[in-house]
Amino acid sequence: MNERVKGKKVLITGASSGIGEYLAIHVAREGGIPILAARSDKKLNLIAEKIEEAFAVTCPWYKADLSNDAEWKDTIDRICYDHGSIDGLINNAGIAVFANVSDSNWQDIDRMLSVNVKSLFRTTHQLLPHLLQNGEGHIVNIASQAGKIATPKSAVYSATKHAVLGFTNALRMEVEPLGVYVTSVNLGPVRTNFFQQADPSGKYEKSVDKIMLDPNQVARTVVEHLFTKQREINLPSWMDSGSKVYSLAPAAMEKLMQKQFNKK
Ligand SMILES: NC(=O)c1ccc[n+]([C@@H]2O[C@H](COP(=O)([O-])OP(=O)(O)OC[C@H]3O[C@@H](n4cnc5c(N)ncnc54)[C@H](OP(=O)(O)O)[C@@H]3O)[C@@H](O)[C@H]2O)c1
Repeated sequence: MNERVKGKKVLITGASSGIGEYLAIHVAREGGIPILAARSDKKLNLIAEKIEEAFAVTCPWYKADLSNDAEWKDTIDRICYDHGSIDGLINNAGIAVFANVSDSNWQDIDRMLSVNVKSLFRTTHQLLPHLLQNGEGHIVNIASQAGKIATPKSAVYSATKHAVLGFTNALRMEVEPLGVYVTSVNLGPVRTNFFQQADPSGKYEKSVDKIMLDPNQVARTVVEHLFTKQREINLPSWMDSGSKVYSLAPAAMEKLMQKQFNKK
């Protein structure tokens, strides 16, 4: 049990699978109350039942499509009404469709912007007054190493994660002096269902198979840092070194890493 997490209400978006599901489990394991949101109600119900049985905590869940701004706004209002103040927010829901810009269809671009960027801004904007009023809280944004280095076939996904990082870095400076911590989580490939939609051919998943992170380990690390003043979590750590070199010499690195960057 983690004393910082114990009894804290933590809203986790995209909690019906992958990293979000494990985040919920680890929040509950540490004595917190995970509040789940996603579209798949059957999956949410099963996960909540499993968590309630294993950890003897309540695990409320909300079915919502985060790409529908009006629906998601109403759901956040309902969450606040049902639970009073929320202590923590993990903006985790996210999607990708890997394609060259010229081959992309507009619906995919629009969905990536809505889920990865607009809904994250919406959730944060709506919950922030509550956190500020309490003078404490933690907002964790699940970004990506794609928010640090853009690669072919991920122009839009990468742009959404660059947006998340920019938002996170500015917000941190605004609210940390007021007691609200803000952390970005920048991940390399993680073994989840994410790639079923991102690249149904399976080619990219195969090419990164050896370096895939375990979603359970990722979630455990994130929850270990909950309610601490952690600026960023970068996993795997060697990718962080790569993005630092990239920021110093982008053209040279794009040339050097061309083969690797074109693996999608
Ligand atoms: N897997 C990776 O390699 C990787 C790498 C870097 C960063 N990330 C980031 O990690 C986060 C979690 O991804 P994951 O790997 O765990 O993928 P995942 O297993 O596909 O989970 C994505 C979650 O987002 C939810 N979601 C998607 N569209 C939604 C919508 N319109 N409304 C509500 N919820 C929606 C899904 O729930 P429903 O389908 O039930 O709605 C699901 O719970 C994402 O932000 C992703 O960008 C992943």
